[in-house]
Amino acid sequence: MGSAFINGTGSYLPEKVLTNRDLEMMVDTSDEWITTRTGIKERRICPAGKCSSDLGYEASLKAIENSSINVEDIEMIICATITPDMYFPSKGCMIQKKLGLNNIPSFDISAACSGFIYGLEIARNFVENKKYKNILVVAAECMSRLTDYTDRNTCVLLGDGAGAAVVSYTEKENTGILGSYISSSGKYGKLLYVPAGGSLLPASFETVEKRLHFMKMEGPALFKIAVQTMTESVLAILKDFNLKKEDISLIVPHQANLRIISSVSKNLGIPLEKFFINIEKYGNMSAACVPVALDEAAREGRIKQGDLIVTVAFGAGLTWGANLIRWEK
Ligand code: ACO
Repeated sequence: MGSAFINGTGSYLPEKVLTNRDLEMMVDTSDEWITTRTGIKERRICPAGKCSSDLGYEASLKAIENSSINVEDIEMIICATITPDMYFPSKGCMIQKKLGLNNIPSFDISAACSGFIYGLEIARNFVENKKYKNILVVAAECMSRLTDYTDRNTCVLLGDGAGAAVVSYTEKENTGILGSYISSSGKYGKLLYVPAGGSLLPASFETVEKRLHFMKMEGPALFKIAVQTMTESVLAILKDFNLKKEDISLIVPHQANLRIISSVSKNLGIPLEKFFINIEKYGNMSAACVPVALDEAAREGRIKQGDLIVTVAFGAGLTWGANLIRWEK
């Protein structure tokens, strides 16, 4: 039957750094508050004139370079994003054009911070069904474009970046992306959303004046659900595959808040050292967090051949999920 494996990973972060000290000049906050409440020290910002498909393109090139295939071997592009360049065309199509590809399916998925987890699961199904051999899954976000830099509740959390993975077919059984657990609950939609700019409240002077094109968030309520759903996702995948928590070498979590990751670690009884954490450098880059962390973990030698790893995330929707991966290239 064969398997779908991660053939290469890549990431790209814009150069401009926004530090906690910079934010102290913009809103009533402090480096001490941000560090102790979130674990974030700095985040990256995409320069004006550039957009999320530019970041996604760079991350994709690195993922392809890190894999055994060439750009022209890509047969499908799945792009996870909530910050597309524009309403349409899709960012998948924009990245396809930038890569110089043509006549292959390219599309976006909107699952916010869980987008890459959903994307890997979609790619796994296409590859295991032997319809496609090499699929590019790319997550790219410019969260700074949805951020209200007068709102201290949200602006300290978010950053820009992109990560990508090439998912390829291997004849080998039981390796690569072994399976996933994905879910959602629309009833929590208003805990995290952008009120205007869609078909319900199109852009008007009023929506701009009321700052309705920026992300709104109920932080404490989200915090609790994040801990609960991320814990549930890891437990569900362990149960599905009849695994013990000791079998997992590394957990690559969404980087929304260090205290969320610590609480998940405590709930699962898996030590924090087994979680890959880079939140201090980049903050929350929505869908891009997991693939950027995965790429850094692999490049830093935190993942070895044969390791069993779990990616896990939650995000707007609300959505959540986890992938179980046997790391073999
Ligand atoms: N600096 C200083 N004080 C602040 C700041 C700030 N940046 N932000 C909030 N405060 C204040 C609040 O006003 C409040 O003051 P009060 O007690 O006088 O009312 C106090 O700090 C405590 O606020 P809480 O909201 O209760 O703080 P909490 O410990 O819950 O931390 C946080 C807030 C960091 C937002 C946390 O709730 C969280 O991380 N939630 C999850 C957020 C998340 O994951 N969002 C996903 C977004 S991205 C996506 O999916 C697209």
